[in-house]
Amino acid sequence: MAATSLPIAPVNHAGLPLPDIYARVSRHVPAIEWPALADDVAAILELKKTRNAVILAHNYQAPEIFHTVADIVGDSLALAREAVTVDADVIVLAGVHFMAETAKLLNPGKTVLIPDMRAGCSLADSITAADVRGLREKYPGVPIVTYVNTSAAVKAESDLCCTSGNAVDVVRSLNAPRVLMIPDEFLAQNVQSLVPEVEILTWAGHCEVHEQFTPADIHAVRESYPGVTVIAHPECPPDVVAESDFSGSTAMMMNFVTEKRPRQVVLVTECSMGDNIAAANPDIEFIKPCNLCPHMKRMSLKNIRNALETLTHEVTVEPDLADRARLAVERMLAVRPR
Ligand code: 13P
Ligand code: SF4
Repeated sequence: MAATSLPIAPVNHAGLPLPDIYARVSRHVPAIEWPALADDVAAILELKKTRNAVILAHNYQAPEIFHTVADIVGDSLALAREAVTVDADVIVLAGVHFMAETAKLLNPGKTVLIPDMRAGCSLADSITAADVRGLREKYPGVPIVTYVNTSAAVKAESDLCCTSGNAVDVVRSLNAPRVLMIPDEFLAQNVQSLVPEVEILTWAGHCEVHEQFTPADIHAVRESYPGVTVIAHPECPPDVVAESDFSGSTAMMMNFVTEKRPRQVVLVTECSMGDNIAAANPDIEFIKPCNLCPHMKRMSLKNIRNALETLTHEVTVEPDLADRARLAVERMLAVRPR
């Protein structure tokens, strides 16, 4: 799995009239609801100027955020990469807490805000720094690769990070016979099948959204839609990935669809992904398995506006810990695709 560039050019809506912005979300936002949302959109666009702020939004954000106020959109890898280049005083992360923490690690001098502090992640919650220290003792000398979906405290205990977009490259870059890849058990197993020469040890963490998919779901969709192309995120169980036609990070899934242009496609991942690329691809039929990530869906135009008005909720990382966690993220960013 190679790292990919942003699937959709970074967006900047400053100066675009509101009716033109509405055209981008009209498939998902009924006209009657738009005036209330337009008020928040206009306020956010103005606040971004006065606060010298940018909004980084993950691919799972709802269309009314993704297509209206986001300056940069992408997968976890792209958001981490873009965070390094951001020229602003304030970064608002429309996504989940670990993404905001990663942005803060890479921008210690900037104010990083998350509109709702409760936007967590079941993978990040599945492991603590003490757990990683325990693994280090149990497996001395085995490099520890931590998925970015973890707290800064966990990153600080690891050797380097990975995302679903570069996990294979990161493992190969180590040239080690054995690697600990934590905490996503399914991602580790999916990487194991692509890198058989390395023994990959893992942890029992799962994504609460992707663990729900089963091979029976894929069989059912193939039966109902003969010839459909099935694309699965590597946080899905390996038997689901094995039944799919392609697997990759959210950006890689988007790129696959825009390049290969399947007639009918099912994206085995969070529901908003399909919504966000459907408008630009009217010739492709998106069949949607509607699993929503409750953490990603804590973001709204209302709380993004509030974040910019009140400069809350600020994400901070204690400096010593930040230095160690940053090292793990920077080592990941230095890995080149093979
Ligand atoms: P990506 O890095 O593929 O965007 O995945 C992040 C995530 O949380 C998927 O559940
Ligand atoms: Fe975490 Fe899963 Fe939500 Fe991604 S979709 S943020 S891995 S809980």
